[in-house]
Amino acid sequence: MAATDPQGIVFPTASDRGMALYAQGVQQMSFFQAPVLETLDAAIAENPEFGMPHFAKAYMMLYMTSPEYTDMAAQIMAGLRGVIDTGRLSAVEQAHAAAIDAWVGGDLRGAAAILDRLGLDQPREILGLRVGHEMDFFAGNSRNLRDRVARQITAWSEDDPHYGIVLGALAFGLEENGQYQAAEETGMRALAHHPKDAWAVHAVAHSFEMRGMTGEGIAFMTTRTGDWAEANLFAGHNWWHTALFQLDSGDIDAALKTYDQGIFFAEQMRVAVTMLDASALLWRLHVDGHDVSSRAEPLSGDWKTVLPEVPHYPFNDMHAAMAHVAGGDMAGAEHVVARMEHYMAAGDDGTNAWSMTRRVGLPVARAIVDFGAGRYAECAETLYALRGHAAEFGGSHAQRDALDRTLLAAALRGGSGSMARALASERITNAPRNPFNWARFADALTLAQAPAPRITEARNRADSLQREAMQTAMA
Ligand SMILES: [Fe+2]
Repeated sequence: MAATDPQGIVFPTASDRGMALYAQGVQQMSFFQAPVLETLDAAIAENPEFGMPHFAKAYMMLYMTSPEYTDMAAQIMAGLRGVIDTGRLSAVEQAHAAAIDAWVGGDLRGAAAILDRLGLDQPREILGLRVGHEMDFFAGNSRNLRDRVARQITAWSEDDPHYGIVLGALAFGLEENGQYQAAEETGMRALAHHPKDAWAVHAVAHSFEMRGMTGEGIAFMTTRTGDWAEANLFAGHNWWHTALFQLDSGDIDAALKTYDQGIFFAEQMRVAVTMLDASALLWRLHVDGHDVSSRAEPLSGDWKTVLPEVPHYPFNDMHAAMAHVAGGDMAGAEHVVARMEHYMAAGDDGTNAWSMTRRVGLPVARAIVDFGAGRYAECAETLYALRGHAAEFGGSHAQRDALDRTLLAAALRGGSGSMARALASERITNAPRNPFNWARFADALTLAQAPAPRITEARNRADSLQREAMQTAMA
């Protein structure tokens, strides 16, 4: 028995039917389409000795960045150990087994490196390419988000069935490296292959976000909801991007409606990956002076049932602290910090979670608490000092922009006119079409007692960009 994957790689223990189901499952997984687990389970039931569907499922569990799901990945691997030990699996499958073991053991970066090396020998192996890309995202490895894919893509051709998946990954990598126009074009090429590629939709959304193209972003997302918002496990995050465009174009009501309908609602799974987006949106509103407590209170309560007592992924801890502060639960936020301090005091356990917590997660969580307690100068000092290496705790530039917005808000509230003006200057220089950025620049100029005409000019620019964004969104 042996079967060949759509890229021509031979798997000695695969059957034709098992391979067909796996190939379908890996595409659904790459696009986050809801039937993915059913498809992978069907592949496993059909062909239990074929490693790849098991590995794909284990990675799906690890994507959840929560201890109970990491345990499920460990169980999948334990169940497969008899097959692995026969020595009949391919070198590709053995690499995946080692990568999953590393990630389960807390070594995300080690796992990413195993798949990186696999990609040198097997550039056409899609699970390693796509999951490695996701690992680079979880590890905040911006360069490799692009270059892992760039190293492998030339081994592919346009008519390979999974080529669109590779393009979608490259699009996001280009975006995370500041190549916004190329990201948009590559993402659109991926969507020409598969209109329902939610990751390519996401890459294009990021390219608009980083350029402050809020009107284009709203138009792009809302005209394609049929492709990315239905039966898709990533829909909440893409709705979050939609809400960011609405927020920055000044349409707060629309952003809150998106929150209620697409990001956090009664049937939404209460898991870290969905609550993170909810917290990130409410926090941006909170630091901007909007009262979001009626939504943040229940979210804060839900975090208490989800966040593990021993930190697992500090990016989640930060978002839990944000929800607590925005919901008015300072004790809850302080507890998030206290359990991180306790974890640090116990000493380095060799996991990425420990080093990420020490370098970024803990100081950031302290800064969130400082913001909530009105200690704006302390908050600003902490965030200003670590912004150069904040990427180490994972996520995208757009997600970590929450830190820059908190820093700017703290500078404004704390009366630090020079810092506020410098930070707002950075924002309007990097994304001059974003109305939010100009509104904050006007606030900073006011605080810094700049000449009145300059303040008026910035305020007018914010207003005209806002009108323009609304018109573009409607067009
Ligand atoms: Fe995103």
